[in-house]
Amino acid sequence: MKIKKVIVPVAGWGTGLLPATKNVPKEMLPIHNKPIIQYVVEEAQAAGLTDVVFVTNQNKVIIQDHFDYNLALERVLERAGKLDLIKTIRDVAEMVTVIAIRQKEQLGLGHAVLCARAVCGDEPVAVMVGDDLMFGPDPAIGQLMDVALAEHMPVVGVIEVPENQVDKYGIIQGEEFAPGMYRVRGVVEKPAVGKAPSRLAMVGRYVLFPDIFKHLEKCKPGVGGEIQLTDALQALVKENRLLAVKLKGQRFDAGDWPEYLAANVYMGLNDPAMRDLLKKRLTEVLEG
Ligand code: UTP
Repeated sequence: MKIKKVIVPVAGWGTGLLPATKNVPKEMLPIHNKPIIQYVVEEAQAAGLTDVVFVTNQNKVIIQDHFDYNLALERVLERAGKLDLIKTIRDVAEMVTVIAIRQKEQLGLGHAVLCARAVCGDEPVAVMVGDDLMFGPDPAIGQLMDVALAEHMPVVGVIEVPENQVDKYGIIQGEEFAPGMYRVRGVVEKPAVGKAPSRLAMVGRYVLFPDIFKHLEKCKPGVGGEIQLTDALQALVKENRLLAVKLKGQRFDAGDWPEYLAANVYMGLNDPAMRDLLKKRLTEVLEG
């Protein structure tokens, strides 16, 4: 079996990054020289995923446009002799097949995933949250796909977080059956510091099977009237049908200002063309 499709929910309001996101979708804010969403799609492509299902809303069509041709701009670049830039923007349009589904009301991440049901058929599907960035030599979603296909089980990605940050995440209680791989025995949403079953926090990478949709359908709105993906994952845990994999790589939650800015510095420092200058300027800024 192969996994071809990835659901990427991008329909949220992005209130955590206001006022920047008043009209610009959070997923289109730049990190270094690309919008956030391009990194997510690049990770999907690197893992062999070919079809991206954006769960989107009426104000975010610009996200789909980013992965399409811009022929007028190409003509301008051609006249200016900037052929390398034509290739740069063409390559983005040719990365993946884009499918767009509207989430007509922002009823939460679980509801966004449920909106993609009609295009998922009977196959397992990857899910990547549109503002969650993972950088590393192996695409994070690919690490989950390998395990999901080998074990025929849904898998969530986890990272180890400091003890004082467990209250920001869904934390798993896991039984390690191979290095970095866990059978999930429980999930606690945002436990109080000191009360968490582990420091293994779920991040926005999942591989799910079609049974997730029947669980999502039954989920009642929880915190803030939203349908939570975690509630459907809990239902899988009850059936002993959820694994977790500790992801290798550097993770940034681009929906949070300090993390967003840190991701920019990280990508800037990884660019040989600007590394030295950026380091010099950062040192000057830090030394005041
Ligand atoms: P967030 O929890 O970051 O929500 O969603 P948000 O609405 O974008 O941001 P805040 O909380 O107002 O700052 C995680 C991902 O799930 C998508 C978002 O677009 C984001 O990529 N999402 C969230 C949906 O697609 N639909 C929803 O109803 C909620």
